[in-house]
Amino acid sequence: PQYQPAQRHVLVDDVDRVKVITLRRPEALNALHDEMTDEILAVIRRHEADPRVAGFVIVGYGTKAFCAGADIGRFPSLLGDADAAAQYARDCSRLLVHLDRSPKPVVAALNGMGLGGGLELAMRCHAIVADRRAVMQLPEVGLGIVPGIGAMVVPYRRWPRAAAVLHGMLTRGERLRAGQAQELGIVDELADGWQDLVTRAVARVHALAGAVRPIPDGPVAVPPFEPAPAAEAGVRSAAIVALIEQAVREAAAATTLGDALEIGYRAFGAAACTPAAREGIAAFLAKRSPDFVAT
Ligand code: CAA
Repeated sequence: PQYQPAQRHVLVDDVDRVKVITLRRPEALNALHDEMTDEILAVIRRHEADPRVAGFVIVGYGTKAFCAGADIGRFPSLLGDADAAAQYARDCSRLLVHLDRSPKPVVAALNGMGLGGGLELAMRCHAIVADRRAVMQLPEVGLGIVPGIGAMVVPYRRWPRAAAVLHGMLTRGERLRAGQAQELGIVDELADGWQDLVTRAVARVHALAGAVRPIPDGPVAVPPFEPAPAAEAGVRSAAIVALIEQAVREAAAATTLGDALEIGYRAFGAAACTPAAREGIAAFLAKRSPDFVAT
């Protein structure tokens, strides 16, 4: 008999020839860790060559969050080691890189907050259907780190006209509502509630069959970043903002997607060695606001 890994952090349902994968870690707002990533990958690998399966939908359990990003509990062990942190980002990316080459459509159904690595996952799916109340955010800058698994790279290539908004999300942690994301082309379709969301996402898988477009290689033009207002000193780390801006610029100039992603992994490694990361992650785990004044 074929080995089937135990599915503990995802649920898999069959809806109209589509595998609906539900991220299920409600105690951590469906945050991604290694086991969950491996389970999602195992489901996709198991079914992607099966002609009876049209594609996949990824959705979050509950109504609050699609996915709150990478599991921050893992981060303290990465602090101060650039190579280990860069490797961690590369490892986190294995699912996302697999999606880049997926022969079958994978649609993100954003049922609630899509944060950090969770948003990076949604942005690597071939389409995003979002509940009207869903919100997207890249909170990494507020943790003293950078979104190292694609957000500094991929959205600029997929949605170049959203570049100025992406700058604000990356360097200031600005939120993007589903409706605004649809206007920018990031969200393909809006839905009302969980049932409608999954129904539309499944229909979108069928509509995409045979029409999955690869992420453009590049290079790509990005507009300049606005300087941060002086009043915001201490809210974010200038060193981290500078790392993000530099990584975005360098990744935009890269001619292959692989090279551009590598720039993101290394920037994550560099960020993990800053005083800002130590402060931001300690603050999150202690449930207090960070103070980046000394960073
Ligand atoms: N990792 C681990 N645990 C997380 C988590 C995460 N990303 N997000 C939420 N949780 C946990 C919380 O610690 C909390 O656990 P306890 O009940 O044990 O304390 C539980 O989920 C519920 O969360 P909150 O009590 O914080 O819920 P809230 O409604 O008050 O706040 C929130 C919701 C604003 C989303 C807040 O949870 C939050 O800020 N989460 C972190 C989001 C974030 O920064 N994501 C980016 C991670 S970095 C990343 O993703 C980088 C990468 O890919 C490499």
